[in-house]
Amino acid sequence: MTPAPLKVAVLASGRGSNLAALIAARDAGTLPVEFVLVGSDKASAGALRLAEDAGIPTLALNPKGYPDRPAFDRELFARIAASGAELLVLAGFMRVIDGAALAPWAGRIVNIHPSLLPKYRGLHTHRRALEAGDTEHGASVHFVTAELDGGPLIAQARIVVRPGDDENSLAARLLPLEHRLLPAAVALLAARRLALGDAGVLLDGRPLRAPLQLGEHGLQ
Ligand code: GRF
Repeated sequence: MTPAPLKVAVLASGRGSNLAALIAARDAGTLPVEFVLVGSDKASAGALRLAEDAGIPTLALNPKGYPDRPAFDRELFARIAASGAELLVLAGFMRVIDGAALAPWAGRIVNIHPSLLPKYRGLHTHRRALEAGDTEHGASVHFVTAELDGGPLIAQARIVVRPGDDENSLAARLLPLEHRLLPAAVALLAARRLALGDAGVLLDGRPLRAPLQLGEHGLQ
């Protein structure tokens, strides 16, 4: 029996190209999800306009209206819970989230990060890969825990660093892969094939020994 479409909320702070890729995959029939909310900490985020155009409910919450991070995150996560979301996808959400808000969502939040984690948690990942002289760079999708960009890895996409690459060229070459990586990882969650167990990620009930890799034909 086909499972019911997974109810998904997305948080994004920026232009929202990863959100657009998720919506496109849903429209193409390769991602059986229902988007119940797109939220942002920036009222001007392109992601909110994309969601509006796609008929998805939106939420803009300004952190300045709250005394501290826990108060903001309490409100944000109450609104996400009220949306009925079963899964929360962080697609370029540029805020650290309070551990207390995350706890009830363990195993139900994923993030896309533009590095081959565990390398380069945090910001400026392209610059740091270049400065380190890496010959390979990439993006990772992982379950979110209270450790910033430190949760168990689900899947990665890799690119070769070329002589003459700069931050912009790396970002531009990686982004189209992110747009395949994130929908493919979320599709596994929608199919209820992925879970976060005590010892790490489970795929089809078995421990995932190493992150899945994005190849020509999807994740493998
Ligand atoms: C992506 O590079 C993503 O990996 C990172 O932030 C960027 C968001 O881009 N976390 P967009 O808003 O999805 O276009």
